[in-house]
Amino acid sequence: MGLFGKKRLPDVKNRIVDIHCHILPGVDDGAKSFEQSKAILDIAYEQGIRTIIATPHHMPDGRNASPEQIEEQVARLQSYADECHYDMDIYVGNEIYYHEEAADLLDEGNICTLAATSYVLVEFSPMDDARYIRNSLNHLQNMGYQPIIAHVERYMSLVKAPFDTIKELRDMGVLIQVNAGSITGFFGKHSKETAEKLLKLKLVDFIGTDAHSDGGRAPRMKECIEILQKKCSPDYVEQLLYGNAEEYIL
Ligand SMILES: [Fe+2]
Repeated sequence: MGLFGKKRLPDVKNRIVDIHCHILPGVDDGAKSFEQSKAILDIAYEQGIRTIIATPHHMPDGRNASPEQIEEQVARLQSYADECHYDMDIYVGNEIYYHEEAADLLDEGNICTLAATSYVLVEFSPMDDARYIRNSLNHLQNMGYQPIIAHVERYMSLVKAPFDTIKELRDMGVLIQVNAGSITGFFGKHSKETAEKLLKLKLVDFIGTDAHSDGGRAPRMKECIEILQKKCSPDYVEQLLYGNAEEYIL
């Protein structure tokens, strides 16, 4: 194949932005110790990730790390990164399990937005209905926030083709995140099929690792990138892995 017939494969590694990662120690069901946080960071770096937004769960039960604790942990991990991985940047965030008080808590500064922007990563129960999800995201928008729905492939009410609610959400300005492990099949056949369909329709804005450990749920991206490069255009791969994050959040 001649030079101009060859599909351009962008060098997406060493620039990837992971907007969904439970890397901070002892604040949720993610990293259990600072040692494990460092191990997760090492893997992320090796996988080509260069920016991580740390997104510990913020749950309605009130047992959450404070923004000050999150900032402190991010600074500590950034110091480690500065020693070992000079071009790795870590930012504060939360993965907000949506509940009625979420917008007020954001306004009061008790929940972290993504990298101190107006963007927020929001999750729901897998069984929540489409109208509830749409109205909740709309409420956040009315309160001045830009919601990104976390691992959209997980919500039973949204994943049926032709994905009318997901299209409606995007028309509203909601952005869509899919987990890397859903694209590779790590989370099962159904998630993989859903993720593939969503990618084909270009209904996805971000790929996140949703990493929780340095073991089974490590921040793996390489296998996902290979699949994306086979199935998506080079421009779309770039948008998914860093372009949109750079444009909207960083
Ligand atoms: Fe998560």
